[in-house]
Amino acid sequence: MTVRFLVDGEVIALDEVDPTATLLDHLRYRLRRTGTKEGCAEGDCGACTVLVGELQPNAVAWRAVNACVTFLPMLHGKALMTVESLVTDGQLTPLQACMAANGSSQCGFCTPGFVMSLHGRAIGASGCELPVADVIAGNLCRCTGYGPILAAGDTVAALSQDDAALVPALQAIALHDTAGGEWHGRRWFAPRSADMLAQLLAEHPQARIVAGATDVGLWVTKGLRELDTLIFIRDVEELRAIDETPDSLTLGAAVTYAQAHAALGRLHPDMGELVRRIGGLQVRNAATIGGNIANGSPIGDGPPALIALGATLTLRSTQGRRTMPLEDYFLDYGRQDLRAGEFVESLSVPRPAPETVIHIAKLSRRFDSDISAVCGAIALTLRDGLIAEARVAFGGMAATPRRAAACEAALMGQPFTHTTMTVAGQALRQDFAPLTDVRGSADYRLEAAANLLYRLFAREQGQATSVLELEPTDG
Ligand code: FES
Ligand code: FES
Repeated sequence: MTVRFLVDGEVIALDEVDPTATLLDHLRYRLRRTGTKEGCAEGDCGACTVLVGELQPNAVAWRAVNACVTFLPMLHGKALMTVESLVTDGQLTPLQACMAANGSSQCGFCTPGFVMSLHGRAIGASGCELPVADVIAGNLCRCTGYGPILAAGDTVAALSQDDAALVPALQAIALHDTAGGEWHGRRWFAPRSADMLAQLLAEHPQARIVAGATDVGLWVTKGLRELDTLIFIRDVEELRAIDETPDSLTLGAAVTYAQAHAALGRLHPDMGELVRRIGGLQVRNAATIGGNIANGSPIGDGPPALIALGATLTLRSTQGRRTMPLEDYFLDYGRQDLRAGEFVESLSVPRPAPETVIHIAKLSRRFDSDISAVCGAIALTLRDGLIAEARVAFGGMAATPRRAAACEAALMGQPFTHTTMTVAGQALRQDFAPLTDVRGSADYRLEAAANLLYRLFAREQGQATSVLELEPTDG
């Protein structure tokens, strides 16, 4: 079938589409929109930032994404804005003019990406409520000239965006049924309903499910892999649902981290802070909670925290549903409890009880857009001064995200004291034998993980937990 999307209001119709052709290559080599650059081709640098618009009932919801890890079929029924879209009659936008006048336009490689991220913020795109520094955290500048860029983003913080003509144009290309195509024997599908997704997986159990492609994209751009059958799930309506109740939060598997950010932050502020540090905004605008779980990575940032909070996972197939504690899904490195024809449908997280104290922390060498050396989450339920329930989970410490059974046993029934934390921290050495790699040594990981227990205790005692909070002392 024909893939149709809009670029500056004009319909681009592609009859034969390689299902893993990237939007970046299409922009640069076919549409000759070379303002969008390739820096890393793995979703890290933001040089390829574009804005994708999705039809809401009567509006267009814009989000910044990395074109280098966006496959062409994912654009079906969407609108696209590139850096070339911004200039009208040779006139720069006020934001671009401000950047040009104030030295925020530096090398031509990164600047278009910064412009698109800041433009998105100014027109109210996903994440526009974030500070400028957070919005451009996924845009890397190698000449370290962030100051003028941040200033421009603050100076021109709002721009008008008229989508009146775009709404009917998007309605005209919207598909209400499963989309799909074939290219040199490689197939792709984009179902609209969970029933149809289950049916497709029953027929093609080896198919690769793709949500945001922030992981699978790298298999193609860096691993040069050819993927045979792809099922794109971002347009499956039921998988996009967010259900917040006084007792729990349920997220469909295709909900992006950006969409879930506020609701996760309402579960616990540490959870919101963790999400702020998962990739850059472009990554969070594409990456899904379901994908972060389904791929079974030992260093995914979401799973340890969700395990400690007591999340359950629902899997679905044409045979029905299975629900399990999230930790049971991860069997071994690269092996998950997922049967042929099953897909991750949703994740449900209970709201923590008021007597539960929680600490969730991501430790990485760089604050923004980095992979964790250790990602830890501790949830202790206190009753009468004793630890009545302990859930402690870590990523980066083993072949899978995992609970720390010996550590939990050392905490259970004990008073909430510094000594208990010391004993529990030592017990982590029975739970984990982590690797030494570029992100940290085995000793660093074990010590840092134990320190998170101290930090939780110190925080609950109202003590400083980082050097930034310490009172300056003489000498
Ligand atoms: Fe670096 Fe796309 S080229 S994020
Ligand atoms: Fe490109 Fe700084 S703007 S290196």
